[in-house]
Amino acid sequence: MKRKITPTHKERTLKEDDFIISKTDLKGRITYCNRIFMDIAGYPEHELLGIQHNIIRHPDMPRAVFHMMWETLKSGNEFFGYVKNLCKNGDHYWVFANVTPSYNDRNEVVGYYSVRRYPRPQALKVITPLYQEMLAAEKQAGAARAIEASTALVNNKLNQFGKDYEHFVLEI
Ligand SMILES: Cc1cc2nc3c(=O)[nH]c(=O)nc-3n(C[C@H](O)[C@H](O)[C@H](O)COP(=O)(O)O)c2cc1C
Repeated sequence: MKRKITPTHKERTLKEDDFIISKTDLKGRITYCNRIFMDIAGYPEHELLGIQHNIIRHPDMPRAVFHMMWETLKSGNEFFGYVKNLCKNGDHYWVFANVTPSYNDRNEVVGYYSVRRYPRPQALKVITPLYQEMLAAEKQAGAARAIEASTALVNNKLNQFGKDYEHFVLEI
C-alpha cells in the first residue's frame, strides 16, 4: 500500500556530480538503489527494496510521461526525460533521467536500470510549464482519457519544432 504524502513544495537539489541510480525488475519494483538515492529521497534501503518505483512519484508529474517511458522501454529502447520526484517528507527534487532495459546472456530483458543526474535549470524553465499544461489537460480529460489528451498536447507542441519528446529533452 502506498502512503499518502503531502507535498511541502520545498525543493532539494542534486549536486552537479551526483548520480542517482536504481534498478528494478520487469514490473518496476526496486531491486537496487545507491546511497545518493536513499539520501535525497529520505528512505532507508529496506523501505525501498521490493517496492514499486512509484513510491517517489510526485502528483505534479503528468501520467503521459510515465506512459511514454514504459512504451519506450517495452519497445527495447532507452528513455530520457525530466522527472519531479517526491521525498518521504513531501519535499521534491528534479532529475534528468536515463532509463534502459537490462538484458541477460540470452538477450532477454530482465529488468530496468536508471541513472539520473542534475537537471539543467534552463531546461526546467521549459519543462515545468509544459508539465503543468499536460497535468491540466489530464485533469480536464478525466482518468480514462488523461494519457491520450496530454500525449496529444505534448506531441502537438513538439511537432511545431519538428521534434519528439526524446530529441526535445536531449537538446534543451
Ligand atoms: C528503472 C525505473 C526507474 C523509475 N524511476 C522513477 C522515478 O524516479 N520516479 C517516478 O515517479 N517513477 C519512476 N519510474 C516509474 C514508476 O515505475 C511508475 O510507472 C511511475 O511512478 C508512475 O506511477 P503509476 O504507474 O503508479 O502511475 C521508474 C521505472 C523504472 C522501470
